[in-house]
Parts: sequence; structure tokens; C-alpha cells
Amino acid sequence: MTGTRPRIVVTRWIPDDAMALLHETGEVWSPDPDRQLPADELHRVVAGADAAVVTLRDRIDGDFADAAGPQLKVIANVAVGYDNIDVPALTERGITVANTPGVLTDATADIAFGLLLSATRRLGEGERLLRSRTPWSFHLGFMLGSGIQDKTLGIIGLGQIGQAMATRARAFGMRIAYSGRRRAPSEVEDRLEATYLPQDELLRTADVVSLHCPLTPDTRHLIDEAALRSMKPTAFLINTTRGPVVDEAALAAALRDGVIAGAGLDVFENEPEVHPELLELDNVALAPHLGSATVETRTAMATLAARNVIAVLSGEPAITEVTP
Ligand code: DGY
Repeated sequence: MTGTRPRIVVTRWIPDDAMALLHETGEVWSPDPDRQLPADELHRVVAGADAAVVTLRDRIDGDFADAAGPQLKVIANVAVGYDNIDVPALTERGITVANTPGVLTDATADIAFGLLLSATRRLGEGERLLRSRTPWSFHLGFMLGSGIQDKTLGIIGLGQIGQAMATRARAFGMRIAYSGRRRAPSEVEDRLEATYLPQDELLRTADVVSLHCPLTPDTRHLIDEAALRSMKPTAFLINTTRGPVVDEAALAAALRDGVIAGAGLDVFENEPEVHPELLELDNVALAPHLGSATVETRTAMATLAARNVIAVLSGEPAITEVTP
């Protein structure tokens, strides 16, 4: 880095450690870190930036890049998923795109498994019962859930987070089946004792289906009404990847009509909106996109994003570059 200090725009609040790294590198501008900027404002504030640190709520496309100007060198998404970014539109303009894989694997798998337990053992429902001061007394038939030992967890997308979910499920005595675009290496299958199944068979046979595939045009509404109808009526669906992988209206109807037994959701089709019917149903455990929300993980994510910016501004490749 020579001459004038680069201008780095940070669109939302990030942890201090990461901010400090960026301050050592350039002039950091964070216009209104507490507010999600609409596209027109985002385009105004990014003008003249050499680098932008963005979150999954920012839409980053050719218009964003053009608004920034030809000096824009790098977009660092503070997320592993990058469906908010039109990667080809940026790379064809010579802009590096980076994400944060690896550092949020455990935190996200923890929330996925937490939702699995919450949904199958009716934890949220139990808490609501107590908080509503509804009279209750212990008896042998009271609020029975579904045990998970010896049941099959069907994982769609056995990447890093899918594997971490499988490891947790194995520790709880579950069997693992998976489907995805390609088969996992045999070392992974052996370690997790995971059986590869075509997706339709996985949906038909799993007791819990957990989604860990990225959102792409191919996976949008992967779980639609037909997919839900193919699942067992006793089965549960867990989604911690991206909301639009599931047709949320179809899921609400399936939960209401007993097509499947329950669900655990950390992500929603039109965040921060949640389909109103889901909010009325007791057989769904809900969380507001908390997958990576620990102090340690968010610090690691933002630090990795800052290091990606620093690398590119120093003429090096990004540490975790996304390729189209
Ligand atoms: C990601 O990194 O893609 C997550 O959704 C953030 O928690």
C-alpha cells in the first residue's frame, strides 16, 4: 500500500478487534453502523471506496460496484453464505470477493442441533406454557416429544457445517444419511458412518432433515410442498442455511396440517419477516438468525473479513476468496 490511505467502507457494526485492524490499514468509514442502509443510501456511501466490508443483508451487485467506482478492489462479506453478492458481476470488473468459511462452523452446527432438540422435545412450547402461567402437573403422558436415539438424521449438504451437525448427532446416537450435489470423500463417510442417498430417498426415510446447502438458483425452494409431502408425518425439518431454500408458506401449511411433525428454523424467506402462520404454531422452534451469533465467532468472522481486505489492498490474494 503506497500513497494515500485507502478508503474502507464498513456497512454495519463489526467487533472492535476487526475495526482496529482496518483502522491500521486505511481511512475507515462506517456511515450508520446501527442501521441497515437501503440500496440508494448504500450506493451513495460506497462512492470512492477501495474496499467494502459488508453483511448478508447488503445487496452487492454491478450497480453497487459502479456506484463505488473503478478503484473498488475488494468486497469482504462477513458471512460464509454469499447469495447476497452477484459474484460474476464483480469479478468481471476485477473486484475480489471474499467470505468467511471455517470460522462459524461449530457455532452454526450448535444452533442447528439446539433447534433439533428444541423441536423434537418441545422446549419452546414448554417454556411458553410456563410463561403463560397455564396450570400444569407432571404425568406420564404430559408433553411427550420424539426421542432421537437410533433415529436417522438426513443432512442435505455435507459440507463443513453439515459434517459438524453430523458429529453432534452421532454423539446423541443418531444415524447419518446425506444427499448433495456430490458424494463426500470416503474418509468423511467413514468417520461419520454416513450413508449417501438420493435426495428423494433421504426425504422419504429421514426422521429429521437438516439443511446445510448454500442458497443458489438450484436450491431455492428445494423444500417445497411436494418435498414436504414426501417426508414422514413424524419427521422434523431444521433450517439454518438460508430461508429461501424452503417454501415458507408451504412449510407453514405442512406444519399446520400435520404433513410433518415439526420444524426448527433459524432463517426465513423474507428476513426479518417471519410467515405469520409460523408464529401461531406450537410445533416449530424459531430463532432470529443466530447461527453464528457468539462473541467469539463474530469476532473471528469480522477479523477474517478485515484480513481479506488487508491482503487485497496489499496486492496479495484474499485468504478466503470466492470464485464464480
Ligand atoms: C453466514 O455466515 O452465512 C451466516 O448465515 C451468518 O450467521
